Amino acid sequence: MEYISSLTLSHFRSHKISKLLLDGRPVVVFGKNGTGKTNILEAVSLFSPGRGLRRATASDITRKPEAIGWKIEGKVKNRISEYEVSICSTNGESRSLFLDGKKASIMKLGQILRIVWLVPSMDRIWIEGTSGRRQFLDRLTLSYFPEHAEVSLAYEKAMRERNRLLKEKIHNDHWYNALEIEMAKNAVSIQKARIKAIKYLSEAQSHLTEKFPKAELLLIDPDQIIITNEEEAVEALKESRRSDMILGRTSVGPHKSDLQAVYADKSTLAKDCSTGEQKALLISIILANAKSLAKISDISPIVLLDEVSAHLDVERQAALYNEICKLGVQAWMTGTGPELFSDLRNRAQFIEVSTIDGVSALSLSN
Ligand SMILES: Nc1ncnc2c1ncn2[C@@H]1O[C@H](COP(=O)(O)OP(=O)(O)O)[C@@H](O)[C@H]1O
Ligand SMILES: [Mg+2]
Repeated sequence: MEYISSLTLSHFRSHKISKLLLDGRPVVVFGKNGTGKTNILEAVSLFSPGRGLRRATASDITRKPEAIGWKIEGKVKNRISEYEVSICSTNGESRSLFLDGKKASIMKLGQILRIVWLVPSMDRIWIEGTSGRRQFLDRLTLSYFPEHAEVSLAYEKAMRERNRLLKEKIHNDHWYNALEIEMAKNAVSIQKARIKAIKYLSEAQSHLTEKFPKAELLLIDPDQIIITNEEEAVEALKESRRSDMILGRTSVGPHKSDLQAVYADKSTLAKDCSTGEQKALLISIILANAKSLAKISDISPIVLLDEVSAHLDVERQAALYNEICKLGVQAWMTGTGPELFSDLRNRAQFIEVSTIDGVSALSLSN
């Protein structure tokens, strides 16, 4: 299994210098509000390509008021080897990665670790606009297919260029053709990867404990069927060129897709479920994600669960902890007090976070 065996945060938000030594067991991070627990999980989330769990920029993260930049150093262990990972940002520049001391592309992180998370702000994704659900689906997809990050970036880059032409009312067929071919190629990869990810999630959910409800997931599109064929995608873009020019942006493609979820036992759309049920659906999906990743990929995932336990009754807490221990993944869980995790007493590492002179301080608490 893969796990983080050491983690050092330097000038990372509320942390000036915080160091942790860990084994592969789950990690419980507890402490009062505002002490810096989520900040730790955010740091771990940056061990994967793409935006971290707060979707923050590098300059948001740098510790204020000093604002001298920040660094995360970690060791990632697996059965055969150990990697030294260092991620840093200076002068507000986007983050750089050093692997075993050598500069590397951030995309490389996807080959070392798979990280999935659940944070309180995601509780609202079922009732809010499509972008939150799409981001959630893409994060899940990325965990199965690390190349999804690069493909999505390539798609967005070509689309931005096309949107610029549309806005400036430029009529240059060659230019559009080239961009649309590039977009179509990546659009098809994006949709195929999303559909496959949904399939993996569905399969894995059927093996979950009955304490968590099954979510039926479906990739949908507001006004057309999902295109998974390159020629059709090229055609659709070409056809919409004229109307897109009036809009000044691209109106078809994977950037419009939505994730539909149905609470299976009740045949109710997630958006119509109670808040508790919506949360339970998210947990089911994340557990299914971790479960199928552990099975499908040869990299076991790291699961970040921010403030999840507080919303569960004791029975569901126990079910969650049992699933996590059964999976044998390094799950990082936060909560305000250790009593939320008493059931994990001997099965996890407990870390207490407090604030001393305005700076986060960590102590091992076993
Ligand atoms: N860039 C930053 N520099 C210094 N402190 C920060 C920065 N960003 C956030 N913080 C502080 O971090 C604290 C919140 O940390 P967080 O991890 O969210 O707390 P919690 O323990 O409740 O999860 C707040 O006190 C906030 O002011
Ligand atoms: Mg928090």
